[in-house]
Order: sequence, then structure tokens, then C-alpha cells
Amino acid sequence: MADDHVQGYAETAKLNPFVFLIAGIAAVAGILFGFDTGVISGAVLFLKGSFGLTAWTEGILVGAVLLGALSGSGVSGRFADYSGRRNLLLWTALIFLVGTILSATAMSLMTLVLSRLVVGFAIGVASFTAPLYISEVAPPRYRGALVSLNQLAITLGILGSYVVDSYFAESGNWRWMLGMGIVPAVILFIGVLLLPESPRWEVLKGRVDKARATLNRVRGGGGAAVEEELRDIQGSITEKQDWRLLFQRWLRPALIIGLGLAFFQQCTGINTIIYYAPSIFQMAGFKSASVAILATAGIGVVNTLFTLVALPLIDVWGRRPLLLMGLAGMALSLLFLSVAFKVGGDVAVLKWIAFGSMILYIACFAMSLGPIMWLMITETFPLEVRGVGSSIAVSACWGFNMIVALTFPRLLEIWGTSGTFFAYGLFALLGIVFVFYQVPETKGMELEQIEANLRRGLRARDLGRRSSRRPVLEDIPEVVLDEEQVNI
Ligand code: BGC
Repeated sequence: MADDHVQGYAETAKLNPFVFLIAGIAAVAGILFGFDTGVISGAVLFLKGSFGLTAWTEGILVGAVLLGALSGSGVSGRFADYSGRRNLLLWTALIFLVGTILSATAMSLMTLVLSRLVVGFAIGVASFTAPLYISEVAPPRYRGALVSLNQLAITLGILGSYVVDSYFAESGNWRWMLGMGIVPAVILFIGVLLLPESPRWEVLKGRVDKARATLNRVRGGGGAAVEEELRDIQGSITEKQDWRLLFQRWLRPALIIGLGLAFFQQCTGINTIIYYAPSIFQMAGFKSASVAILATAGIGVVNTLFTLVALPLIDVWGRRPLLLMGLAGMALSLLFLSVAFKVGGDVAVLKWIAFGSMILYIACFAMSLGPIMWLMITETFPLEVRGVGSSIAVSACWGFNMIVALTFPRLLEIWGTSGTFFAYGLFALLGIVFVFYQVPETKGMELEQIEANLRRGLRARDLGRRSSRRPVLEDIPEVVLDEEQVNI
């Protein structure tokens, strides 16, 4: 039976060093994602001087990358199917290079904003394509860990951007800060040249022999297991790219989880800290730009370290406990931050409370919403609609990210620092309620079981329910798109 075949290669597949190399190179795209979104936090302090930024133009500059990313992630599903995952990553590296050179040499605010749009477009494409490519080459058993590697790469990119910002802070040279993005872009371009195309995409294009050759390389030898995997890939190539499919009633729980996690990942304010940490530290009393940037580098280190801590725990403690604890910690630290800014007065104490709260906040995010959102997006959408489903959730994530980044400087003016962080704290509290009632525990579950639960019409929260026998996809009724279900 097909199910037994999946079990066979899924359980015996070993981690081949070549898969590590592939995942490592593809994850450089995550480093670029992190670097190019993080680098602006330090650069903006000096850009204010060069271009006389107001609250709005500062928001627009930070938001340009996000608008680009929103459009990039929106179109990348189609490009990835048309040109191939590997080729798309190659193009992404080139776009990164062009955008980075243009922004580092920009002579006007307009050119800078346009070039940041280009870089953003590449980030959006990368944020969709790299995890997709990794998940299509990874052995099923290690897919979760390898997909989460991408989040680790994002945090390393952010950390790298903070280190670069601190290095150039003394001279205030924002051009070099932005320009250093060339390094990972070149590494990505050269690295991707060494990579094979995704076997799944080869099958999609009818090139079964090429797919077999790649599988032989990445699984470390041919044989029956590779033939079984190839048959499974051929069997699952019924993937439909029609986004209207997502509005079928039985898929609603997957949409709720994907969009909900994207909303709470962004609207609890993570990127106000990632993009504006030096400015927040200055407001809290770390007056010198270089000290503020150094304190921000501390944030980057904690982000990376706690992502490392989270990776094994996601499969041991599970998604729900980490999300609930993480959100509780985030709510608490945001309320501390809000109170610290409200009380004000004694600046020496304020700055250390602000620093401590931000460290606690980042650690809690890194152990919860950071990696788990990206992971659950790939877990809850059934294979048939995984491409369109995750592309919509990724775009929503960039959309929320943009709204928060654009409104943050303005909210500071209207509500003050204390009021603004209080609002993000309220969202974190709402996030606890959302996770409690809507997010299932998918730890150690087979993806077929989650799909079977969706097709049985279970609620979002119950998708993690295990049945006493293994799911057999043949006995789950095929759900077809009909007008009534589309028009919910
Ligand atoms: C989020 C980014 C954020 C980063 C911080 C990612 O999961 O999507 O918006 O900047 O984590 O580590």
C-alpha cells in the first residue's frame, strides 16, 4: 500500500552530507533576509543626518523593503513553478546584488527608497523559495529541523547586520552598512550554481530521469527507496495552483492557523525591536549611537541563541507549550517596557529596565512565534494546496510586518513609547487566547493525519487529534471544489 511505501523511505532515509550542503546554501537566502531587514536599524540613525528624515519618511524607508517583500512573496509561487526553485534562487541572488549596490551608492532619498524596494522584492522571493526548496530535498524525517534551520539563518543574518552596524557606527558610514549585503549575495549566487534542481520540480516538468539522478545523489545511492520516493512524488503531483481552492470550507482551519500565527508574529511588535532597537535604546537613555547599536548587537545574540535552544524543544515539548509560554513572556516584557517609559524620570534605571525587557522579549519570541510560525505554515496546509496556502500566509506575514513598521514611528508620536508598547502587549495577551483556542499540537504527527483531520471537518484546535489507527488517504473522501464551498 502507498502508505507503507512512504513509511519505508521516510524512516530509513539518512542525513547525507550533500543534503546539509544544499540546506546550508539555501539557508544563505535566510541570512540575506535577516541581514537586509536588520541592517536598516543602525543605518537609519545616520540616514537621518544625510537625508533629514521625518517620522514619515523614516517609516517609508523601513517600509520600502517590506512592500517589496510583500510583492515578491506574492508572485514567487508562480515563478517557482515556472523557472524552478534553484533558478529562482539564482535570480534572487542577482536581484539582491543589484539592489544592494544601488542602495549603498544612492545619492537621493528617492533612489534609496527604490533600491530598498528591489532588495525587499528579493527578500520576499527568498522567504518563500528557500524553505520550499529545502523541504523538497530534505529526507521526510528531518524536514522539520531543516526547515527551522531557515529561521536560524534569519537570526544569524540579523546578528550579522548588527555587527556590521556596530563596526561602522564610529564613522557613521551607512553606505558600507548597507553595502556589506553584497557578501552573502555573492555567496548565495556561487553556492546555488553548485545545487541541483529540486527533484519534485523536475517531476512536475516531466523530467523523471533528472529527478531520479538528483534523488540518487541526495539520498546517497539509488535502489528501491529512491524508486518509492519517486513514485510518491509522481503520485502527489496533482498539486493545484488555484488559490480559490483555499476557500473551501474544510481548509478554513488551516487558513485560520496560518493567517492567525502570521498576524500575531508581527502585530506583537517583533520588528519594532529588530528594526528600531538602537532608536529605542536612545529613547531609553543610551545616548551615544554606537553604544545603542552595541546594545542592539546583544539583542541579536540572544535572538540567535534562543532560536538554537528552541529547535530541539519544538519536537520535545511541542508547539503549543512553547507558543503559550513565549507569548506570556512577551506580554510581560512589553508591559515592563511600557511601565518603564511611563515612569521615566530616573534615566539610569529606565535604560536598564528597557534593556532587560527587550532581552526577555526577544528570548521569548525566538523560542515561540519566530520558528513555529514558519514551521506550522508548512505543516497545516495539505500538499494539494501547500504552494498557494503558504504563499498567502507568507504574504500576509509581510503585509502585517509592513503595517507595524510603517505605523510605529507615528504611533510613538501619538501614543508615546509607553502607550505603543502597551498596545503590542495587549496583542500578545490576545495571542495567548488565540493559541489556546485555535492552534493544534502537531508535535510528532504525520502530515497525512493532519490532512485527514481537516477532511473530517475538525476545528483548528482539534487538528492535532490522533486517531487510534494510522490514516489511510484512500479512505478519506476526495473533496472537490464546488461553487457553494467557494462562496463561503
Ligand atoms: C520574522 C521576522 C523577524 C525575525 C526575527 C522572523 O520569523 O518573520 O519578521 O524579523 O523572525 O528573528
